[in-house]
Amino acid sequence: MTITDDVRRRPRSEPIPSEGADGLFTQTWFPVCLGDALPEGGGIVGAELLGGRVVAVRSPSGRVSVFSAYCVHLGADLSVGRLDGEAVRCAFHGWRYDMDGRCLSANGTPVDPRARLFRFPAVETHGVVWAFNGSSPLFALPQPDPPDPAAPVVTRTAAFGQELAVDPWVVAAQTLDLQHFALPHEGTFVEDPNDSVTWDEFSVGYRYHALMPGGEEYRVWASIHGSNIFWQQGTLDGRWFYWITGMAAPRARTTASYFTWGTQPLPGEPPEAAGEFLAKVQAFMFNLLAEDAPVLMTIHYTPGLLTKSDAALADFFAYLRRYPRANPARHFLR
Ligand code: FES
Ligand SMILES: [Fe+2]
Repeated sequence: MTITDDVRRRPRSEPIPSEGADGLFTQTWFPVCLGDALPEGGGIVGAELLGGRVVAVRSPSGRVSVFSAYCVHLGADLSVGRLDGEAVRCAFHGWRYDMDGRCLSANGTPVDPRARLFRFPAVETHGVVWAFNGSSPLFALPQPDPPDPAAPVVTRTAAFGQELAVDPWVVAAQTLDLQHFALPHEGTFVEDPNDSVTWDEFSVGYRYHALMPGGEEYRVWASIHGSNIFWQQGTLDGRWFYWITGMAAPRARTTASYFTWGTQPLPGEPPEAAGEFLAKVQAFMFNLLAEDAPVLMTIHYTPGLLTKSDAALADFFAYLRRYPRANPARHFLR
């Protein structure tokens, strides 16, 4: 190789598999829909997931399941079916499926034992219905640990209307991208977060303590769970809050975000005070998102030349490269 060839080649790190590469996706909890999308007495909604289609179902008794959307008879979309007691009834020929996805009846003909939908491990928490990409979950979603365990936690939930044309892990990677807090976010670290970075198989986190340009003191434990779940818990200007961003992967190279955040009412304060604080947390976090948006909406994310100050980010890339990937529902979802 000549020197000229060498300088003309953009340096690249070892690639990180994209979502959907070889048909596989990271094995994590993906948001499917808001819990409110499924009415109390029962309901069915369709959603895109992992490049295919699923339905989230709340049965009349309150059980929530997430299934592959297409009826195993001729492929009608079950989101246009209806509930028939604790079963989902296909709109086309009336095949009925129980809340485990097993076909209960095939319009009067004997039921083939193979007649079943793919059922994802599913939970409803933080105001969102989540499905795990796997036959059983590899980790649990984080839950808040409020200062007063006996007092209520007041929460807000929002779905972000706009999809980003990058995989969720690209958005999640900002959390470990400690350089970018100086620009675009203009934060000043009080402690070096690199000193507290902690890893396990399915999460990575660190202590974050910074003074922000608006004068806020931002002090949290921030972590990424799986490839796509941002979690933080701590204080903003001394008051406790938690925040979770669940990033859905409706298809490859797409992120759709769901946010839930909460705090506790303080003794003696007026009832609206907790809501006002939650509005402040939302404005603070959405401002960080707005600062990132021009980059995230245009980036061609390609880890290239990394420097010493990218150490935590480089470790996150290594975590992503070894992160388990699968797609057990692949034959059901399209
Ligand atoms: S396509 Fe569902 S019952 Fe025929
Ligand atoms: Fe950011």
